[in-house]
Amino acid sequence: MKALFLAGGMGTRLKPLTDHLPKPMVPIMGKPLLERSIEELKRCGAERVILSTGYRANCIEEHFDGKRSSGLPIQYVCEDIPLGTGGAIKNCEEYFDDTFLIFNSDILCNVNLKDLIRFHKHMGADVTIATTRVSNPSAYGVIEFNSAGYATSFTEKPKPGEEKSDSINAGIYVFEPKILDLIPARKVVSIEKDIFPVLVKKGYKIAVYRESSYWIDIGTPEKYMQAHEDIFSGLCRVQENDFSRYKVFGYNNVQIHSTARVIGPVWFGQNVRIGANVTVGPNVVTGNNFETGRGCTIQDSVIWNDVSVGSGVNISRSVVTSGCRIGSGIECRSTIYSQESKRPFVI
Ligand code: GDD
Ligand code: MG
Repeated sequence: MKALFLAGGMGTRLKPLTDHLPKPMVPIMGKPLLERSIEELKRCGAERVILSTGYRANCIEEHFDGKRSSGLPIQYVCEDIPLGTGGAIKNCEEYFDDTFLIFNSDILCNVNLKDLIRFHKHMGADVTIATTRVSNPSAYGVIEFNSAGYATSFTEKPKPGEEKSDSINAGIYVFEPKILDLIPARKVVSIEKDIFPVLVKKGYKIAVYRESSYWIDIGTPEKYMQAHEDIFSGLCRVQENDFSRYKVFGYNNVQIHSTARVIGPVWFGQNVRIGANVTVGPNVVTGNNFETGRGCTIQDSVIWNDVSVGSGVNISRSVVTSGCRIGSGIECRSTIYSQESKRPFVI
């Protein structure tokens, strides 16, 4: 089976994390989210991936072209102007002549894809939408469905208080190719607002696959941090790091001074040097090429690649993006720290 990833959005709500990276390339526990999703697809037996890109498409192509071994054969379809989710799907029509999967690229989840596909066939559906239940449905696409398990209405981002259900579109679909005939070509189209409601009206069968395993859209800094917390707590499983079994993961060349303390859970990338009297953890991710001076404390934070911090630096509940140099004595609390900006945020 082939799978399409919608990966062309601007990632506006995730800024400044998306100043230089498209949202699907944001690292989750040191690895781009999209790479994790493609690896998961490979494990499920998918045969080919189509990436619908736009914003900072080069960044995606360069990463995967240099890493063929990690996943599946990949085709890129880059938009000059964003076509919206429906327009992007239509734009990739030539690749699909059989049942296929579609994913929003900002979802970290433990959805059982084989089961989803089985369900789609069992329901004889034209489209199957994975749904999950959330406490704040107004931030998502709300779906109502009947007792037989087919969708009856779609409301994209209803006003708070006006949600008709707490079941939301989880951004994972199984499509029959005939649905592509119903999407206008070369137009900006939203699959959620312009197509799904029309399908219901026309009597197409949209099955609702109810998912109760871990699911998160990492599209805001708060959710991005939440995803890491959930991996550390064992709520979300990621393939190579099972924090319910081990508390500290480290890769090549991690040097920790004999007077430093590491309090798990902590994930270290490669080439890490932790200085004297530094405390790292709990809940810390450091990317590759990370270096500290002396006497720092770092907790509840995600640090990307190529970061160095001076002595006496305190970092808590923060994200530090790639290439940052943090001078001695700096306090970095509840901040998204990038080379260009320091943005406070609240979880
Ligand atoms: N190629 C392409 N072109 N991709 C796009 C475009 C576009 O014009 N616009 C958005 N995308 C991609 C984004 O990169 C992302 O992976 C996905 O489509 C969804 O876009 P978001 O901007 O993240 O949408 P959302 O989170 O507000 O809402 C969507 O996801 C929710 C679940 O997280 C909707 O599908 C909701 O109905 C759903 O509940
Ligand atoms: Mg999203």
